[in-house]
Amino acid sequence: MAAPSDPNRVLIFDTTLRDGEQSPGCSMNLAEKLEMARALRDLGVDVIEAGFPIASPGDFESVQAIAREIQGPIIAGLARCNFADIDRAGEALREATNKRIHVFLATSAIHREFKLKMTREEIINRAVEGVARAKKYCDDVEFSPEDAARTELDFLAEVCEKAVEAGATTLNIPDTVGYAVPSHYADIIRHLKKNVRGSDKVVYSVHCHNDLGLAVANSLAALLEGARQVECTVNGIGERAGNTALEEIVMAMRTREDYYKLTTNINTRLLVPTSRKLSMVTGMQVQRNKAIVGQNAFAHEAGIHQDGMLKNPSTYEIMRPEDVGIPSTDLVLGKHSGRHALKARIQDLGYTVDESQLQRIFEAFKVLADRKKSIYDADIEALVDNQLHSGASEAWQLVNFSCNASFGVPPTAAVSLKHADGRTVCEPAVGDGPVDAVLKSIQRGTGIDLKVTDYRVRSVTGGLDAQGEALVEVEYDNRKLSGRGVNTNVIEASALAFLQVINRIALRQVRPRMKPSDHVPQEVVPAV
Ligand code: KIV
Ligand code: ZN
Repeated sequence: MAAPSDPNRVLIFDTTLRDGEQSPGCSMNLAEKLEMARALRDLGVDVIEAGFPIASPGDFESVQAIAREIQGPIIAGLARCNFADIDRAGEALREATNKRIHVFLATSAIHREFKLKMTREEIINRAVEGVARAKKYCDDVEFSPEDAARTELDFLAEVCEKAVEAGATTLNIPDTVGYAVPSHYADIIRHLKKNVRGSDKVVYSVHCHNDLGLAVANSLAALLEGARQVECTVNGIGERAGNTALEEIVMAMRTREDYYKLTTNINTRLLVPTSRKLSMVTGMQVQRNKAIVGQNAFAHEAGIHQDGMLKNPSTYEIMRPEDVGIPSTDLVLGKHSGRHALKARIQDLGYTVDESQLQRIFEAFKVLADRKKSIYDADIEALVDNQLHSGASEAWQLVNFSCNASFGVPPTAAVSLKHADGRTVCEPAVGDGPVDAVLKSIQRGTGIDLKVTDYRVRSVTGGLDAQGEALVEVEYDNRKLSGRGVNTNVIEASALAFLQVINRIALRQVRPRMKPSDHVPQEVVPAV
């Protein structure tokens, strides 16, 4: 992509569906990736990295489906510097209106010696061949020297220059292992911009990992040196400690526009709805105190702060909640609220639902209003999320359950489940506690055996009648999966969270796949 005509405009390259999705607990199926791609398009990102097509048939299909459907942003596919990867990416992106192939090759001494077993010269040749091959499929080619932040500066500049000569239009400088600190990372960008011939013709991009908690700070430091593309993920999901968080970098630029003088195309009012959508789709929640999108990000508890806020919000608030998509009032609905009021609130919260979805949400709302006096925004979000992510694509549905948690008697549960093929099962089980008994009964009934690695329950809102949110993380076939359930009955919420995970497994959404970082000897897939 050519640099935008406005020199202060920063391109947002979203890699939630590639670098984000490959992290434990964040895998998505094709329908979920499409749903997220639509949300990213609406959010206004410039580039969507849709996946790593050679990694698995599932990755290929999702890149292809996103390339077919999503108009507006550039759709990018990742490839290592070998012909098989690049050809596969080219094929997956064939139908995209705006496409980009993103080729990468490690350049640091440690990667050259131990992972690739290639000399400097071989790396340069391979990079040039890879970029040239990608050019056969599209003009827009991004090159990433993997582990750039630990690469010798002179060699890094040499590889980048050759990649530009071969036709790269974006040079992405990854801090693959999250080793850089802001001044160091800024030095790298400054050095490259000064020493790489052709720098003025390409867009410099930054790709930071958060191992030291510095991904956003490093990206900002690089922007000050002239980088004009940031690679980031919603909620900062990604390998290990994650990637640069999209919502944080965007709001840093916007809130401190006086300092950075940079702009993006992001509709910031969709930041929180997009973050929530991702949490819903993956089951991976953000921590309460997460900047911008965490539940407490705009909560003021201290009396002195509350007093100041009442006198003038800007005493303690640098951003307005509504600017990131949090409605300014937590309007309370109840038993007597009508369909119209509910619809208006759902829209205010950033969701788009059709009439049949609204009808289902309204029915669930009425049931909830019978159990709970005041329905808050968080309750409505839980209802909408539940309705939008249940039903047609589920293999198993909860019919009913009973469980016993008396004192002095072993806890037991019997969960009745209905399969999409019409059969029903109910296998009683004994557990260490009622939740454990419910899980065992579900596992017995469905025949799916998994290991629970984390389980938490928290309340969605305040009050004793609050809905409980159960979050579960499991390990299955060496992959981590997360599930979430919400209900006023916490045992039912737990059963729903387990079922979400079971359904992902039952629908064979958990497929083994390769990661870009997996070592595949280059000679297995020769470049030429
Ligand atoms: O972190 C990294 O180096 C990557 C590359 C594939 C760009 O994700
Ligand atoms: Zn990365």
